[in-house]
Amino acid sequence: MIPTSDTVRFVLDGAIVQACGEYHTTTVLDFLREQLHRTGTKEGCAEGDCGACMVLVGELDTDGTAVKYQSVNSCLQLLPTLHGKSLKTIESLRRADGRPHPVQQSMAEGHGTQCGFCTPGFVMSLTGLLQTVSSPTRSEINDALSGNLCRCTGYKPIVEAALKAAQAPREQLVLDDNAELELLLDIRRTSGDEVVLRSPSGKEFFAPRTVAALADYLVQYPQATILAGSTEIGLQVNKQFLQPERIVYLGEVQELRQTQDLGDFWRVGAQVSLATIKTLVSDIYPDFAEVLRRFGSPPIRSTATLAGNVANGSPIGDCMPCLLAIGATLQLRRGATTRAVPADQFYTGQKSNVLQAGEFIAAIDLPKPGTGHVFRAHKVSKRFDQDISATCCAMSYRLTDGRFSDVRLAYNGLAPAPCRAPALEALILGRTPEEVTAAELDQAIARSFTARDGLRASWAYRSLLARNLVLQFVQEASPATFEEVA
Ligand SMILES: Cc1cc2nc3c(=O)[nH]c(=O)nc-3n(C[C@H](O)[C@H](O)[C@H](O)COP(=O)(O)OP(=O)(O)OC[C@H]3O[C@@H](n4cnc5c(N)ncnc54)[C@H](O)[C@@H]3O)c2cc1C
Ligand code: FES
Ligand code: FES
Repeated sequence: MIPTSDTVRFVLDGAIVQACGEYHTTTVLDFLREQLHRTGTKEGCAEGDCGACMVLVGELDTDGTAVKYQSVNSCLQLLPTLHGKSLKTIESLRRADGRPHPVQQSMAEGHGTQCGFCTPGFVMSLTGLLQTVSSPTRSEINDALSGNLCRCTGYKPIVEAALKAAQAPREQLVLDDNAELELLLDIRRTSGDEVVLRSPSGKEFFAPRTVAALADYLVQYPQATILAGSTEIGLQVNKQFLQPERIVYLGEVQELRQTQDLGDFWRVGAQVSLATIKTLVSDIYPDFAEVLRRFGSPPIRSTATLAGNVANGSPIGDCMPCLLAIGATLQLRRGATTRAVPADQFYTGQKSNVLQAGEFIAAIDLPKPGTGHVFRAHKVSKRFDQDISATCCAMSYRLTDGRFSDVRLAYNGLAPAPCRAPALEALILGRTPEEVTAAELDQAIARSFTARDGLRASWAYRSLLARNLVLQFVQEASPATFEEVA
């Protein structure tokens, strides 16, 4: 019998906070503002878009010698996921002598703030960036701020303030984690093997430490809501008042946080973040890395998982077209049994898939490209950063004697779930790049998909994008194109 508790313990500015009797769906933001009265952290949208709620969450590294902080949208994270972690808010940044942090100082001096509602979020994002990057470039700063919206100041003075702040002495920029380390180790020592938190209404939050315990729990409670990065579940809690009887959190299962190199492929655990996967694929699938760079914002990518994106099953989910074109395989586990399902056999319709009751995605196998394999992908959205797709197209192929072979082509946004496009694959297969025409691609798209206008884009626009993206990939495969460009 696993002992239960109603107390979440985490570290805040060198002291352990004990949060007792909270709901299992209370967000970190609500707890900060309503219970701790740390109102510097703001609520703008409650859906991960504006960044006003940004905080830094620190975790002990595996050998327990350092705390690694990353920026997180506190509106999306549920309080029990903080158990055993360290939290920094805008109030944490004041230095021991009472002076503000260099980022705060340069924001004020450089007129990087007007109404100030967005300012704590910007400061936290920049402070997060400066923990790991000592001299960020303008483009790294822009990327770090892609999840922060400001309505009045304009971004130029904010970016200038960031560049100036980065020149401050390193010891002023970096968060001191000495006090945190001991306290985090103490929570780790006294928390036992599994963490079960029960809210006053009897609802349960279970954070197993092993895959076996997770699998057993899901067999026993197949209706339990699986929680990974919380970027979708947090939204459902805030906007649809989701209150599941049981939540099972994958974040404490170390095995699911690992990526294994198994020769021809990587096995990516279900709790590996998109930020980690972006680094993993950046050299061999640069287009996939670029799709991931434009996925949400850094705090979304540092928490959201690949498995969560796949399981979520949005018709405009960005990862699945890449996984379909790469030829990924999903490792699905129920109890002690694991089965491998090719990514193109996972969805059965809109938001439906082959997962059985009590089954979960344990890992995703990402094949490495074979000799001569080319992978292309591009996402089109209304805004370049922090926006979801009108459509994303991914294609892999080989050119054999100038003709396409091993063609895999996939889209999101055109059907009830992301899918391959067999008619287009067949059209391209065996042809030279010059032999593939726009008119034939248009016909194949019309045959393959049901024309439907969506909220994000009309069918006319989407089908045009679908044709032009593949046409671009095909034309860029032609040696003639490269000669012309050169
Ligand atoms: C601001 C913002 C921006 C976003 N931008 C994008 C974007 O650019 N592109 C895009 O595609 N999506 C985007 N999303 C959607 C979301 O971030 C992704 O779908 C994300 O990958 C979900 O992963 P997660 O780990 O956060 O999942 P969670 O929210 O934890 O879970 C999502 C769903 O998957 C289930 N689940 C999670 N893990 C497993 C598992 N291992 N096995 C079975 N079921 C599981 C959960 O029960 C839940 O139903 C955005 C969301 C926000 C809030
Ligand atoms: S309140 Fe807008 S991102 Fe959290
Ligand atoms: S200063 Fe007003 S929203 Fe940014």
